[in-house]
Amino acid sequence: MSNPKRDFIDIAQHSPDHLRHLLELTGRVKSGGIRGRPLAGRCLAMVFRKSSTRTRVSTEAGMVQLGGHAIMISDRDSQMGRGESVRDTAQVLSRYVDAILIRTFAHEEVVELAHQATVPVINGLTDLLHPCQVLADLFTAIEEFGNDLESLTVAWIGDGNNMANSWLNAAARLGFSLRLACPGGYEPDSHILARAQSLAVVQSVETPAEAAEGAHVVTTDVWASMGQEDEQSARELAFRGFQVDASVMARAHSSGIFLHCLPAHRGEEVSAEVIDGPRSRVFREAENRLHVIKAILLDLIG
Ligand code: CP
Ligand code: NVA
Repeated sequence: MSNPKRDFIDIAQHSPDHLRHLLELTGRVKSGGIRGRPLAGRCLAMVFRKSSTRTRVSTEAGMVQLGGHAIMISDRDSQMGRGESVRDTAQVLSRYVDAILIRTFAHEEVVELAHQATVPVINGLTDLLHPCQVLADLFTAIEEFGNDLESLTVAWIGDGNNMANSWLNAAARLGFSLRLACPGGYEPDSHILARAQSLAVVQSVETPAEAAEGAHVVTTDVWASMGQEDEQSARELAFRGFQVDASVMARAHSSGIFLHCLPAHRGEEVSAEVIDGPRSRVFREAENRLHVIKAILLDLIG
């Protein structure tokens, strides 16, 4: 019997051992331990139904560096953009390429694509989750604080969005402590939150200062994610007081760092002083997206 197809869609679906393997492989990729062209002749389809800089470029560059090739497919120039079904697209792409990365709105679309595809599917962000980013963030934390994730405290400040949900899944799997401060009405997905609270030390608190208290990692994200642009002004009101500024960072652990998946809005969710300051690791974090996606690709199709 052949092994079932493997995907990378949701951190919650991976065992702690497998996540640790991916993080360790990321370290080997970053330190130049992967030689030759392990993905020679391999092809990845990258379906982007939302904008991207980091995910698109790190994935395409990563495929090339590993000896393979990536094909960008956007709604503007594909039949998906004209309404061709996910089911038919999955079956067709599976006959051309070795894996599919997709960034889209509804998480169910990625689940359906993975169900219909016969090749591995990677979640490049949905409205619900952004697993590749949080793996890169965890790797950045490990570079800073070492492998003992259980002794780590992470503070999530702001929107209970795809990033917050993925941090919750990661805490549930890897056992670090997570403290969240989200404005009322902007909490994370209730099922993901409840599951994480049953498996790890996950606390919801009222204020950014409480969340940041003693934290090793303080992290946030934009107030209005892709697809929520028309909520921008309502969110600016609701998120008042939820900026990560110097006073919030002052509450963190003395070696605490600031992370942000980017793109960032200076003066909204984070002050320029913090994101451009000495405790910020945002560009190392962005670099680590490249090393992480290479590890995921090697794991799935190497
Ligand atoms: N952080 C992140 O996923 O960036 P992009 O939207 O540029 O891919
Ligand atoms: N939460 C943001 C992340 C962007 C990388 C969004 O979904 O737009």
